[in-house]
Amino acid sequence: MLEPSADEIGDWGNSVTQFMIDYLGGLRDRPAYRHTCSREIRSRLDSTLPIKGTDFDSLLKVLRETIVPFSRQNAHPRMFGYVQSPGTPIGAFADLLASTLNANLTIWRSAPAPVELERLTIDWIRQILGFPAEAGGLFVSGGSMANLAALGAARHTRDHSLGRLRMYASSATHFSIAKAAALLGIGRENVRHVAVDESFRMRVDDLVAKINADLTSDYIPFCVVANAGTVDTGAVDRLREIREIADRFQVWMHVDGSYGAFAILAESARRLFAGVEQADSIALDPHKWLYLPVDVGCVIYRDPEAARAAFAHEAEYTRMFGEEADEAFVCWNYGPELSRRFRALKVWMLLKGVGLDRLSEAIESNLACARHLESMVRASDDFEMVAPVELSIFCFRHVPVQLRNQSPKAIDAFNERLLVALQRDGSSYLSNAIVGGRFALRGCVLNYRTTLRDMEILLDDLRRVAKSLPNSV
Ligand SMILES: Cc1ncc(COP(=O)(O)O)c(C=O)c1O
Repeated sequence: MLEPSADEIGDWGNSVTQFMIDYLGGLRDRPAYRHTCSREIRSRLDSTLPIKGTDFDSLLKVLRETIVPFSRQNAHPRMFGYVQSPGTPIGAFADLLASTLNANLTIWRSAPAPVELERLTIDWIRQILGFPAEAGGLFVSGGSMANLAALGAARHTRDHSLGRLRMYASSATHFSIAKAAALLGIGRENVRHVAVDESFRMRVDDLVAKINADLTSDYIPFCVVANAGTVDTGAVDRLREIREIADRFQVWMHVDGSYGAFAILAESARRLFAGVEQADSIALDPHKWLYLPVDVGCVIYRDPEAARAAFAHEAEYTRMFGEEADEAFVCWNYGPELSRRFRALKVWMLLKGVGLDRLSEAIESNLACARHLESMVRASDDFEMVAPVELSIFCFRHVPVQLRNQSPKAIDAFNERLLVALQRDGSSYLSNAIVGGRFALRGCVLNYRTTLRDMEILLDDLRRVAKSLPNSV
């Protein structure tokens, strides 16, 4: 098992490929989610410390009989929860190949071709976003790490011995920003929550007011974070206006595009991202709207030297001899990680294998699905939208006739119970959000398999499940 023969590798490969064919082929017939508990799963797993090995088929059997049925099926076309990509076969094969080669992308010398491929692929993403040619970056584990890296670079631009640093982000910003501020020693309390407008975009007047107030109190404003797709409602902040304010106060502008930035590939959404190319840094996630399997985020810096100033570290055991320029490229100088898997391979195989035309079409179709849901909800008399659909996230609630005269609290409580019941039912999966202080059913279309018909099934599922709630309506 530790070093299988060529025949064994062939057999394992065939079984794994067959598993993939069966799994993907049967997706629509599976529940998106199966209600379970820790004890039920544990009771199916052999907990004995494995002293002797087990054959490969037995391992796959556990995958088939326990892991698969007791997982949330993220590739299911009606898995609308959170910001979850479905994965894609080309990405899965790329992950297998990356692990086979087991390249470790620390510096160019350690993995010459993989690092070149990463730099090439990062440059393609730079071009997609419209950043200048000098911009550069890295693949990291995900959006949270990309935000952390970018804020680490931003913080380094200021001398914080002179006073407390302050940064600004709308109240709809993902928690990874506050978490990064805490980890970087900026402090959660120094992330100022800027108010949002009725479309959940940052209110620029409030941003200016907060910066001015901090300046008069001897704080040092150093960074504004704009959203290119908030996690709750998908709102895209007015990037050009925020750039102007960042220039006026000479602060770093970071864009969190972890969820939304790849929607720039869709014609119908492109205008929302005007100005993104002027940011100092951006976080975006190929493992979200490029449909790739988990574990690939991306950070791009407008001026990579700013990141180098924050992250570069020289140690005798990593000293390089006789190498210059490109061949001396040190990945760890641009982010927090040292050992890094070959994430670029799956991004490269997807972009090159599928092509931007097909990806743009898939993203466009996701947007169309969310808009279809919105128009069905607006045309119905038992659902209501609680936020406009900007990208592919939709927030709404179910208000059956019998509930119409009830208090907002009662309607919220009903929708909360409905959400839990829908998840347990398994035909469709939504998550939740608090929007304007009220509970909302929240979905995000992020799967190239999802169709307009799936959006109709979602509403039918909600109506069906609502009727089965005890003493509900
Ligand atoms: C807007 C936004 N930022 C950051 C993140 C964090 O990304 P990750 O889960 O890849 O760390 C998310 C995750 O959903 C997100 O939606």
